[in-house]
Amino acid sequence: MSYSYQVKSLEEYNAAYKKSVEDPEGFWSAIAENFLWRKKWDKVLNWNFTEPSIKWFEGGKLNITENCLDRHLATKADQPAIVWEPNDPKDNKVVLTYKELHFKVCQFAHVLKNNGVKKGDRVCIYMPMVPELAIAVLACARIGAIHSVVFGGFSAQSIADRIQDAQCSTVITADGGFRGSKVIPLKAVIDDALISSPSVKKVIVLSRTHIPVSMINGRDVWWSEEINKVQNADCPAEIMDSEDMLFILYTSGSTGKPKGVVHTCGGYMVYTNYTFVNVFQYQPGDIYFCTADIGWITGHSYIVYGPLSAGATTLMFEGIPTWPDAGRFWEIVDKYKVNILYTAPTAIRSLMGFGLDFVNGKNLSSLRVLGTVGEPINEEAWHWYDDNIGKKKCPIVDTWWQTETAGVLISNIAGITPQKPAHATLPLPGIQPILVDEKGDEVKGNGVSGNLCIKFPWPSIIRTTYGDHERCRQNYFATYKNLYFTGDGALRDEQGNYRITGRVDDVLNVSGHRIGTAEVENAINMHTGVVESAVVGYPHDIKGQGIYAFVIFNGNMDDKELLKHGIVQTVAKVIGAIAKPDKIQFVSGLPKTRSGKIMRRILRKIAEGETSNLGDTTTLLDPAVVEEIKNGRI
Ligand code: WTA
Repeated sequence: MSYSYQVKSLEEYNAAYKKSVEDPEGFWSAIAENFLWRKKWDKVLNWNFTEPSIKWFEGGKLNITENCLDRHLATKADQPAIVWEPNDPKDNKVVLTYKELHFKVCQFAHVLKNNGVKKGDRVCIYMPMVPELAIAVLACARIGAIHSVVFGGFSAQSIADRIQDAQCSTVITADGGFRGSKVIPLKAVIDDALISSPSVKKVIVLSRTHIPVSMINGRDVWWSEEINKVQNADCPAEIMDSEDMLFILYTSGSTGKPKGVVHTCGGYMVYTNYTFVNVFQYQPGDIYFCTADIGWITGHSYIVYGPLSAGATTLMFEGIPTWPDAGRFWEIVDKYKVNILYTAPTAIRSLMGFGLDFVNGKNLSSLRVLGTVGEPINEEAWHWYDDNIGKKKCPIVDTWWQTETAGVLISNIAGITPQKPAHATLPLPGIQPILVDEKGDEVKGNGVSGNLCIKFPWPSIIRTTYGDHERCRQNYFATYKNLYFTGDGALRDEQGNYRITGRVDDVLNVSGHRIGTAEVENAINMHTGVVESAVVGYPHDIKGQGIYAFVIFNGNMDDKELLKHGIVQTVAKVIGAIAKPDKIQFVSGLPKTRSGKIMRRILRKIAEGETSNLGDTTTLLDPAVVEEIKNGRI
């Protein structure tokens, strides 16, 4: 397969971009023609951003797994689809060809059906990074069940929240998972989550670590035993409407609990495939390695669906970059002759700190394209990646996008459009970004900054937030009329290149993970020693942002270290280890306006180390508290 829609030169990019703006429907329908549809669409696009109501390829019928699997069988049956590197480098790798993956997905689809899962049911997946995770995801899609993957680092409470919100009927998990030298119990966490999740009727458990687990009669079944019951693995794909839900993925916002971002079948397939093939300039035969976890959107779109729909070979890694040592990524590149490597700035910054001894001696000459995702990349990390990993001969794509966008929106195209360190650069074809000021007026021209919005839909834009459409409207479409608001701020340089500067709302980005300040505050406030708290981000050398918590404590506690420890543990229990505060400062009050609103701007400045220029504090209820907080800063 070659990709007729892969742009091959700057001229082709310019032409594609022009066409995508002048005739979006013509542009996207020509790309969609390259897929396997059971019935062609009646209308390419129907949209308004007011409700919002966005429909792509309406009336089209398809199954995404036929595009990821079946259609490759004629020409690529024996080509590796998934190559899996285990946590322990001494263990055996697993290679699944397209034929084998197709077989296993169909087989597990039967297991789901045998356990009562039907089209439209929601299935929660809480698994380590093993091939069965990809198989579970695809098997859901095969039968039209809606998957909701929850990252393996989230707590029982977080899982329960997500299961209840989506009313999942089934959970797929493993006894445990290996992460570096640790064994993470997964089934035990699910057991806790299910105490308060009555919608779940079945739990399918993969045996990975062989740690003891308790299996509940009538509810819990073993993956392998269920597979053994499948006589005939033939499983025709459920025919889906273009706009049927494919999956839900929960992500943090500035208020309340995480929301379930909904993506649908047709548009998601077309856009993730188009961006995968173009941004990375994937060539048939390339080994592509994305280091993300399938628990996040990057793994959904650029480990599973994008690469497989393009007939690529996608490498899945179970472990962590620093175990057995900090050379693990480079060893994997060497071992599998990886051509395209896609990782996060936080991983690069952390590995930089270990020095070049872990890079030297590894053969990285197979690399042709490098990528980054998840957070702004600082120039130092960009140059380290370019010099030491790409050896100055690999383009680096800085891909900006979000769970809600499902695919990359702004990025250079490897070797085709110009790159600029720390800049995501230009919009991809089909993407019409604009910058607006606080009032919502467009900031025109170049050499400017503003809040980043998109003014026209692309095929994989968020459709709704599960069970609460109004929340979707409020969050993304109500701030500025007729615009999708990203929540990010950006600069546009003299050449029109975008540089994403980070969130302008109360969302933190810690090691590339999105965390809402309100969520962390709610968790901290659950501790009995806490009266009130306020959480802000501060610059962190490796994580990008760290979590700084200002906490008013209950006067009864005199051992502050113990209290701090207790607070950290509470956050880990309520959300997960990724949300643990890095710094906790006890204060006697918080800077509030007369109407009781916390002035986060002031706290953010103090946390960032800026104590002189705090702006106007005269409207505060108790200005003296600011002095105290400044003096107690850690
Ligand atoms: C940030 C991850 C700068 C941004 C795919 C966005 C980035 C949030 C970049 C979405 C980048 C992602 N440069 N910032 N290349 N990529 N971000 O939903 O703030 O986990 O809004 O999706 O990450 O995070 P999410």
